[in-house]
Amino acid sequence: MNQKQMIASYKQTFETEPTHLFFAPGRINLIGEHTDYNGGHVFPAAITFGTYVLMRKREDDVVRFYSENFPKVGVIERRLGDLAFREEDDWANYPKAMLHLLQERTQAITTGIDMWFFGNIPNGAGLSSSASIELATAFGLNVIERLDLEPLELVKLGQRAENEYIGVNSGIMDQFAIGMGKRGHAMLLDCDTLACEYAPIDLDGLSIVIMNTNKRRELADSKYNERRAECETALEQLQRTLSIQSLGDVTPETFKSNVSLLQNETLVKRARHAVYENDRTLQALVALKENRLEDFGRLMNASHVSLRDDYEVTGKELDTLVEAAWANGAIGARMTGAGFGGCAIALVRDEAIDSFRQAVSERYSEEIGYAPTFYVASIGEGAHEMKLGMKEEV
Ligand code: GLA
Repeated sequence: MNQKQMIASYKQTFETEPTHLFFAPGRINLIGEHTDYNGGHVFPAAITFGTYVLMRKREDDVVRFYSENFPKVGVIERRLGDLAFREEDDWANYPKAMLHLLQERTQAITTGIDMWFFGNIPNGAGLSSSASIELATAFGLNVIERLDLEPLELVKLGQRAENEYIGVNSGIMDQFAIGMGKRGHAMLLDCDTLACEYAPIDLDGLSIVIMNTNKRRELADSKYNERRAECETALEQLQRTLSIQSLGDVTPETFKSNVSLLQNETLVKRARHAVYENDRTLQALVALKENRLEDFGRLMNASHVSLRDDYEVTGKELDTLVEAAWANGAIGARMTGAGFGGCAIALVRDEAIDSFRQAVSERYSEEIGYAPTFYVASIGEGAHEMKLGMKEEV
């Protein structure tokens, strides 16, 4: 969809002209999975797929939401004073959550607003379409309502929207990557201190291929909260002896010598993943900086094995896809995001991408019964305003 078509659809929906356009990307995570809420490190990057939102302030207190991706849901209309979560508001609960939290934080939003959304992130693919909607809304409201909040504050409000309003106890990774991303760079983020190091992604003849299982992330939210709770229990048991704030404070050596503090095998597996994955993420940054891409790939592979065997968040589709990638020349491959379906990523030599896709697709389709989808990732900017009236295709 290009800008002209977006504006035409806005006009048709709301019978006025939009005044502003904002964009927020989706994200991939190169390595460092399920470490963010454990006080560890993550290594995500913003991608060029994302969410566009056209906005216009109103004079009354009505708020209207429309998404080109969910035309059947139609226009959702609420008032500024009535922004509580409602099941029937479907996807619009995400922008409603942001409006609600920004209002609570600033008390500066006095009139309503019309918001029209369009996203080209594959739905339910684990590339953070929900955080993308949250940050597009937050960046937009920040400008349009002159709230003057720092991007980092918008990022934190996005996480609160998930935790308090939607009910998923997710960490900060998605919102941070989407709010603070930089074109051509991944970000090594310490989720404890929020210190962030931008690392240029110059892959020397390799590309990052996103591979979508096309399995929707069923039960993802409840399983996600369950994993998080298991890690909290493991932390409490380790804290009886160790002086640590989070599993991110534990080195592999300390873990090995204190593993007997954990009361059951499930807790050992969950904590082992969090500790070793954090260590792999730090190693991955060094490997990337030293251009040791084969080592980077091996760390990705080890990450997937740990997510499969210890954290148990992969499932048949992701495992089949990643194993097919390993068998067909990927330098490294792993699931990305929360797991339970969604996407994996693979590092593939540029000249081999076509044959790779074909071979992986054949093997996956044979096993699973339907085909995966592939996209070559490009690493784009974080959330920002776009000029209305530009001609580029979006
Ligand atoms: C989801 C969450 C993130 C993170 C990942 C797993 O994307 O939103 O906070 O925990 O899963 O790494």
